[in-house]
Amino acid sequence: LLHLFNTMKLVKLGKTDISISPIGLGCWQFAGGEGITGSFWSKVDKKQAEEIVNISLKEGINWFDTAEVYGWGHSERILSSVLKELKVIPGKVVIATKWFPLFRNARSIIRTFQNRTQALQEYPVDLYQIHFPGSFSSIPEQMNKMADLLEEQKIRAIGVSNFNARQMRKAHETLVKRGLFLVSNQVCYNLLNRDIERNGILQTAIELGITIIAYSPLAQGILTGKFHESGDNKTARLGLRKFTRQFKAKSLEKSRPLINILREIAAKKGGTISQVALTWIINSHKGKIVAIPGASKAAHAHSNAQALKIKLSPEELMYIDEMSAGVALS
Ligand SMILES: NC(=O)c1ccc[n+]([C@@H]2O[C@H](COP(=O)([O-])OP(=O)(O)OC[C@H]3O[C@@H](n4cnc5c(N)ncnc54)[C@H](OP(=O)(O)O)[C@@H]3O)[C@@H](O)[C@H]2O)c1
Repeated sequence: LLHLFNTMKLVKLGKTDISISPIGLGCWQFAGGEGITGSFWSKVDKKQAEEIVNISLKEGINWFDTAEVYGWGHSERILSSVLKELKVIPGKVVIATKWFPLFRNARSIIRTFQNRTQALQEYPVDLYQIHFPGSFSSIPEQMNKMADLLEEQKIRAIGVSNFNARQMRKAHETLVKRGLFLVSNQVCYNLLNRDIERNGILQTAIELGITIIAYSPLAQGILTGKFHESGDNKTARLGLRKFTRQFKAKSLEKSRPLINILREIAAKKGGTISQVALTWIINSHKGKIVAIPGASKAAHAHSNAQALKIKLSPEELMYIDEMSAGVALS
């Protein structure tokens, strides 16, 4: 299948030799439409998921981010089933998934790992991440269990998600004692949420050689501009998103000036608002930040992968930077 891949310049995941495209595919949207995590998005069925994954592969995306909690294995099962259907050889793509830490201690990392491999069928877990810092166990206890999995060659790299700078450093230091290292921290980062630039996460990641994986890079769809267009936020199937602050009319109004600027730049470049927003993320700290936009339609995945074709000058990047700083919600 590799001949189908478009050439996309790959970057290294942390200090590993794992090469990933600067844009990966977020697979929360494959959670199955049920439960809390599922009802966040409109339901994506297997056929749609297959189209999304297929177009992503064709456009040169070589990695996929999923999690145990996305439909309790549903997203992982859908992803592995469609990869199988598309005859993708296990090991030819990079799979990142996450352990759900809430109400659990670190022993569950080992205990539940078998469920991950079952859900992912024969596709190996390349990057295993702690979904957020909510476990009953300490960070060193969690990292030591992760290190056991890595030493047994059950996973290739260890990551965290939603860890602050101190927690990330602690995780890294624990792994260093075992001769290993932390590879990534998956956090929210987009033109409307630039917290990591101020709270030490980005700086610490750069210092320690940890890749930042930017989740919600399109602010859950807001940075496509579609919710600013009249009435779209009412007609679109918003799911649980409608209860979040950023989808309130007031917040949308606040970000409108930025959307207008992105629209202008996009028109000049022959691209779209979302492509400019994604290009800004992966170029703002080249090679240090990668993005995993989610898609509920094949056209989304196609457009998002094509963002890599948009070239922004340093002046344009700086202009977007300044305009976004003025309207960022946090
Ligand atoms: N670690 C964590 O705690 C965490 C948290 C959140 C997300 N994530 C990961 O990050 C991934 C991405 O984040 P996200 O899904 O929250 O937000 P996102 O990628 O910013 O937004 C995804 C949504 O934006 C819309 N969209 C995407 N591309 C589009 C396009 N080209 N044109 C029009 N609309 C488009 C779609 O909305 P509609 O479906 O409404 O059309 C899509 O479902 C997730 O899939 C997941 O893997 C991780």
